[in-house]
Amino acid sequence: MQVTGKVVVVTGGANGIGKALCEAFHNAGAAKVVVADLDAANARAVAAMVDGAAFKCDVSQENDIVHVIEETERQFGPIDLFCSNAGIGGGFDPMSENAGGASDEPWQRSWAIHVMAHVYAARHLIPRMRARGGGYFLNTISAAGLLSQVGSPAYSTTKHAAVGFAENLAISHKAHNIKVSILCPQGVDTNMLRSIPKGPQSGDGDLTPEQVAKDVLAGLEQETFLILPHPQVLGYMRKKTENYDRWIGGMAKIQAKMREEFGK
Ligand SMILES: NC(=O)c1ccc[n+]([C@@H]2O[C@H](COP(=O)([O-])OP(=O)(O)OC[C@H]3O[C@@H](n4cnc5c(N)ncnc54)[C@H](O)[C@@H]3O)[C@@H](O)[C@H]2O)c1
Repeated sequence: MQVTGKVVVVTGGANGIGKALCEAFHNAGAAKVVVADLDAANARAVAAMVDGAAFKCDVSQENDIVHVIEETERQFGPIDLFCSNAGIGGGFDPMSENAGGASDEPWQRSWAIHVMAHVYAARHLIPRMRARGGGYFLNTISAAGLLSQVGSPAYSTTKHAAVGFAENLAISHKAHNIKVSILCPQGVDTNMLRSIPKGPQSGDGDLTPEQVAKDVLAGLEQETFLILPHPQVLGYMRKKTENYDRWIGGMAKIQAKMREEFGK
């Protein structure tokens, strides 16, 4: 897909990777970029920079997603590309005292934002896209959804679920000309990365959000399911499937090292 002339929505577009996506889409000639975020002030600031529109939206609320879709289409026309990008870095514990955690709260919040938000976007856009002959979903997930996030079971698990949903979305609707890409970087220099303990996500170097946005434009152009700004991730995926037990052993070593560093 070329984004030139397209109507695009970016959730979590007020900051970080989402903000860089909004700028990249605008620079590539999108007809309208809609910034949907809980952070209304920064959403408006980004929208002003890209001659776009801003909506205050909590992606964990189905009604908020419905509002963004309905208002975007009413004001600017059919949504060609919907980017579910909003995410949170909750539930990190570098000591990993108990993978089950202490309460449901980080699990439920992560589930709502990382998974159900993607489901709601599909639920309300698929009928519209099918009726007009196609569309595109870009879901920002993480390398943690393909590998794991040492120190955060809730992040890892919900990002895995997001990969599972995106696969099924792509399979279910290939016949309807609905395309799906998943963006799975390791460390990207954003507020979220700065808010979590330093860990293996930065092992291959943190990228800038702008670099990631460039990779997204290339991935959309090629319409590949998997967009990997850190190409090393493909090698790690292969190692995981080649020998699961050895891979878990290696990850457990990283966990042990993390405990040592944070326990000092
Ligand atoms: N930064 C990284 O290292 C990294 C790596 C892999 C994947 N990711 C993923 O990239 C995505 C973007 O993260 P980022 O690094 O740019 O972080 P960020 O904190 O800079 O931006 C996240 C944005 O999402 C918004 N948001 C959070 N909860 C929301 C909600 N309920 N409704 C609407 N908006 C909400 C925030 O207000 C913020 O603007 C996330 O899905 C994250 O999991 C980030």
